[in-house]
Amino acid sequence: MANTQGRDIFPPSCSIIFLLLQLLSYRKADFSVSGPGQPVLAMVGESVQLQCHLSLNISAEDMEVRWYRKEPSPAVHLRKKGRDMPEEQMWQYKGRTTFWTAGLAHDQAVLTIHNVTVFDNGTFHCKFKESIGSAEATLWLRVAEESSIYGM
Ligand SMILES: *[C@@H]1O[C@H](CO)[C@@H](O)[C@H](O)[C@H]1NC(C)=O
Ligand SMILES: *[C@@H]1O[C@H](CO)[C@@H](O)[C@H](O)[C@H]1NC(C)=O
Ligand SMILES: *[C@@H]1O[C@H](CO)[C@@H](O)[C@H](O)[C@H]1NC(C)=O
Repeated sequence: MANTQGRDIFPPSCSIIFLLLQLLSYRKADFSVSGPGQPVLAMVGESVQLQCHLSLNISAEDMEVRWYRKEPSPAVHLRKKGRDMPEEQMWQYKGRTTFWTAGLAHDQAVLTIHNVTVFDNGTFHCKFKESIGSAEATLWLRVAEESSIYGM
């Protein structure tokens, strides 16, 4: 993302074109997004809440909010134009997610994952996108199986 160094390697005329292309194709959002900053813990079979929030206390109701794992699409949960988009959801999460709609009026994207499985162990991203730009944060979910606690 941060390729401000890149233009030094181009001759001057190219670098201006390169810069213009960059300005046209990419604009940074006015806000940033942060998550819990430390792994969220859950047991297999439980429900767990993943939370991200914007750096500004502004409404995110008009933004697209995408929770995803490795690839942005299909998503873990996608909220777009004021509605949930199950048709763009990974099959592993169908019927297992609840998005807290009211949080969007402030700066929150809160997703509950029900019936946690070992598949959920790992990295999640939450991305807020508005017309002029987007920002995202990364979270880690650590899933423990009962056997790893009681199995000693
Ligand atoms: C964010 O703004 C809303 C009103 O838009 C206000 O009710 C709420 O208390 C604010 N939250 C914080 C943490 O400032
Ligand atoms: C939770 O997941 C397990 C294994 O996938 C399944 O057998 C069970 O029915 C699910 N429970 C609920 C409440 O969805
Ligand atoms: C979850 O992921 C962590 C880090 O990759 C790993 O150490 C741990 O064993 C995994 N837990 C399960 C239940 O797979």
